[in-house]
Amino acid sequence: MSLIKLLDIATLGDERGHLIALENNRDVPFSIKRVYYLTETQKGVPRGFHAHKELVQVAVCVSGRCLMKLDDGFSEAEVWLDAPNKAVVIDKMVWHEMHEFSANCVLLVLASDFYDEQDYIRNYDDFLELTKRA
Ligand code: TYD
Repeated sequence: MSLIKLLDIATLGDERGHLIALENNRDVPFSIKRVYYLTETQKGVPRGFHAHKELVQVAVCVSGRCLMKLDDGFSEAEVWLDAPNKAVVIDKMVWHEMHEFSANCVLLVLASDFYDEQDYIRNYDDFLELTKRA
C-alpha cells in the first residue's frame, strides 16, 4: 500500500472565501485529542526527524507549503503539502521529516493522542531496528 495517504477533503465556501472542515472519525481516520501547529519556520531548516510508536497524525499546510518525507523503514515517499485541502496521514511507525518550508507556512497537525515523549523514536537506527523486528 502507498505510504502517501491523502485525505479526500472538500473545499467549501463561496464568493466570501474558502472553508475546509475536518471531522473526527470521518475525514480524519481517528478521534482527535490534540491539535498543534508550526509557525515561523525557517528557510532551509527542516523539522520532524522522528517516528511515533502509536500516535497517528494528519498534517496540512493551511498556509504556504512544505515537503513531507515519509519512510516506513522499507520504502520512502514524499509529497508537497501545498494546498489547504491536501492533508496527509502520518501513520504510527513512519519516520517523517518536513523540508523546504515556504515563507509564512503554517503547518497544522491533528493528533490521535496527547503529547508523550515516550512515544517518540528520535534515532533513525533505532527506528530501522524496530521496523525490522515488527
Ligand atoms: P518535536 O515534536 O520534536 O517538533 P518537530 O517534529 O516539529 O521538530 O517537538 C518540539 C518540542 O516541543 C519538543 O521539546 C516537544 C515539544 N512538544 C510539546 O510539548 N507538545 C507537543 O504537542 C509537541 C508536538 C511538541
